[in-house]
Amino acid sequence: MRIPLLSIYRCVGTLNSRHIVPRVSQIALVPRHYSTSPSKPSTVTLNGKSYPCDDHTNVPPHIAQCLSRKLHLIPNHPISITRSLIESQFPSPVYKSYNTLLPVVTVGQNFDSLGFPLDHPGRSRTDTYYVNKDTVLRTHTSAHQADTFRLRESDGFTISADVYRRDAIDRSHYPVFHQMEGARMWSRDSVPNGDIAAAIWKEIEQMPRHDLKVEDTAGAWDAERNPVQSEHTDAEAEAVAAHLKRSLENVVVEVFGQARKAAIAAGEAKESEVEEPLKVRWIEAYFPFTSPSYELEVFWQGDWLELLGCGVVKQELLKNADCNDQIGWAFGVGLERVSMLLFNIPDIRLFWSQDARFLSQFTPSTITRFQPFSKFPPCHKDVAFWLPSSTTSAAGGNTMGVFHENDMMEVVRDVAGDDAEDVRCIDEFVHPKTGKKSLCFRVNYRSLERTLTNDETNQMHEKVRQALVERYGVELR
Ligand code: PHE
Repeated sequence: MRIPLLSIYRCVGTLNSRHIVPRVSQIALVPRHYSTSPSKPSTVTLNGKSYPCDDHTNVPPHIAQCLSRKLHLIPNHPISITRSLIESQFPSPVYKSYNTLLPVVTVGQNFDSLGFPLDHPGRSRTDTYYVNKDTVLRTHTSAHQADTFRLRESDGFTISADVYRRDAIDRSHYPVFHQMEGARMWSRDSVPNGDIAAAIWKEIEQMPRHDLKVEDTAGAWDAERNPVQSEHTDAEAEAVAAHLKRSLENVVVEVFGQARKAAIAAGEAKESEVEEPLKVRWIEAYFPFTSPSYELEVFWQGDWLELLGCGVVKQELLKNADCNDQIGWAFGVGLERVSMLLFNIPDIRLFWSQDARFLSQFTPSTITRFQPFSKFPPCHKDVAFWLPSSTTSAAGGNTMGVFHENDMMEVVRDVAGDDAEDVRCIDEFVHPKTGKKSLCFRVNYRSLERTLTNDETNQMHEKVRQALVERYGVELR
């Protein structure tokens, strides 16, 4: 099972790893995107505030509606229980937690302040919800790093929030999910003799020790790809990384220790798992706003799971936030992934369920295993279509007038909402004579709450087919 996390915000290369289905490459198409159609409203209302639309706007109503849900703040919701469990490892007064920052941010906050290059794929309209060309729904909690550093309200902070990304449809991907950002800073001006490394090591001495098995290949990393920053001494970077790693290892001990207890209590854990110490490993990663960067993986029920991304904060970012006297670390963790493990929740759509059979199962501050309500039958339907022959090439990163797999996902979500469980591209070919491209997608309709009738599924599927024609000018086969 793959659960949404981080990957697009690493540098290119591992870009598609959060997609189960390989992405259909961007294919040139007559510009007919629905967001540019004349019937489009001139403003979009988000959290009660209205924003002007332009040809970048691509926030559909079903996404706009999610802004008011705030799952991470509902005390008996698994996302919120997970949030407070992790938050408890970063206590005040050292860490201040921000949990109510609004999701509408500027392109500057979400990308520029973090040093994302202009051609980074994360900026594209196929991956990000644009309110208009200058404003997006935050795609990660890192969007608030610079502002929070600038505030200097505490030495460290956590930020928990809903984040938005256009993405695949399956049991572990949802276009809205939750992240927690964490950061810790030390100022050269306030440690004895300006010796940050010494001050950090002193703190590390006082941190709780753990009996995790830790694999770390950090020493062997490429100094070019993932270097200590020129503004930092090796000793400083080493101390910051050691503090970062110990802090996050302690989170794993707490969170996965609890998950294990819950699994044992439910009779799900194997004897061998109960006996063995928890295992984690640090691996190399790349983010535009940290260096060196790392990823933490945990060994859980037979697999290595990617848990979070982190690193030493880029000095450029701190300088721009008027914090050049400080150095420190930051991490970002996806809460759905952790929550699915803790509570044994098999389908990400359940988090959004308003069915009492879901929410009434949970109690604030307590980890319990999810008891599935009965499983309803799936219904697979295929749709095959020709893309209009292209008039222009889509090269050069132009996202207007190209059909992207995420456009298909959006159409299905628009029509079927949470009654779509999974969508995958099952066939793609180019006609040898006409050069026309054909795609075939398989949609699996299944409600988590009831049996869908045949009629209902047929009607939904017909709407999907029509929407593809209307918005993208495809020719159904
Ligand atoms: N914002 C990154 C993501 O969503 C995660 C991250 C946060 C990485 C902080 C490094 C430091 O992928």
